[in-house]
Amino acid sequence: MEEKKILTTGEIRSLERDGKFTLFAVVSRSSLRRDKNGKNYWDIALMDREGTLEGKIWSNAQWWDARGEKPVTVAEPLEFELFRDLEGKTLGLLGQVTEFRGQTQYNFNGVSFVNQKKYPPHEYVQRSPIPEARLEEEFRELLSECAGPVGDFLSFAFFDKGLWEVFRSCPAAVSHHHAYVGGLLEHTIAVARTARSLARTYSETGMEVNLPLAIGGALLHDIGKMESYEIPPGLKMTVKGTVIDHIVLGYTTFSALAGEFGLDEGIALAIGHILVSHHGCREYGSPVLPATPEAMIVSAADELDFRLFCWKNATDQMEEGREISDYHPSTQRRFWKREETDGL
Ligand SMILES: [Fe+2]
Ligand SMILES: [Fe+2]
Repeated sequence: MEEKKILTTGEIRSLERDGKFTLFAVVSRSSLRRDKNGKNYWDIALMDREGTLEGKIWSNAQWWDARGEKPVTVAEPLEFELFRDLEGKTLGLLGQVTEFRGQTQYNFNGVSFVNQKKYPPHEYVQRSPIPEARLEEEFRELLSECAGPVGDFLSFAFFDKGLWEVFRSCPAAVSHHHAYVGGLLEHTIAVARTARSLARTYSETGMEVNLPLAIGGALLHDIGKMESYEIPPGLKMTVKGTVIDHIVLGYTTFSALAGEFGLDEGIALAIGHILVSHHGCREYGSPVLPATPEAMIVSAADELDFRLFCWKNATDQMEEGREISDYHPSTQRRFWKREETDGL
């Protein structure tokens, strides 16, 4: 494949007509169509970290299989087994900006299937705005504050048993909040930081709140989401996530790991309670309501992070000068972007 500067979808959008480019992206949608001469072409949507680019792969395009050491030309793309399920595949594409009936169009004349171990699909979807290294650092810092058996168990679960590899890139939802790669980690850290502050504040006033339990419970509260969502070719709920739900999935994973680790039964019960009660009420999927200070803290921190995220998301999208958002069904309110007030 001829080498050209590798651009992102955002950079490609700002290219002039006739501009050529190379793009590495994941197929989020594809359909095989026929042009007016009866030749096959692909109508395709490709995504990377910056967004999605729609384009066409015409019948005269060159195809390569570049998954091995050396790229091999694919003479008959339709015969090629990879085409049966193009969505979710990582491709390297040579393209050109053209114009058709006054509209900008992107045509791809060279397409390579690349090795997905080297170019993992989750690298090409929208990500948390917070750098991954910073999120990891904060996660490890919170974990280090859980001294004793809770901290030992967390290290075992996330790092010895490898939860971390999936956890770090998992979204927190499909659409409501933190719906992007790294979203679950970003949300979990926010919940654990708030839980830590609340636990400290109440401990100082004499309430018996166990700090490792509050932080540890917060770090684990949504682990069931790892089995509830899949990323490429787009954020999707899994069958398990739909029919079992993340609360039950999370509790099941936690119980198995706690048993394997040999976590003290009393501690396992206290953490298990935080996991199953964290949605705060039965209508939102928790079979029991939070009954300990740590569970009440994690549940409140979880809800607060969700609402604040929704406030930011809704008000960021409002045009200049507007103060009240559209009605937001999942939080059952309109948000207010207060005007700057002198003296505040
Ligand atoms: Fe949850
Ligand atoms: Fe949550």
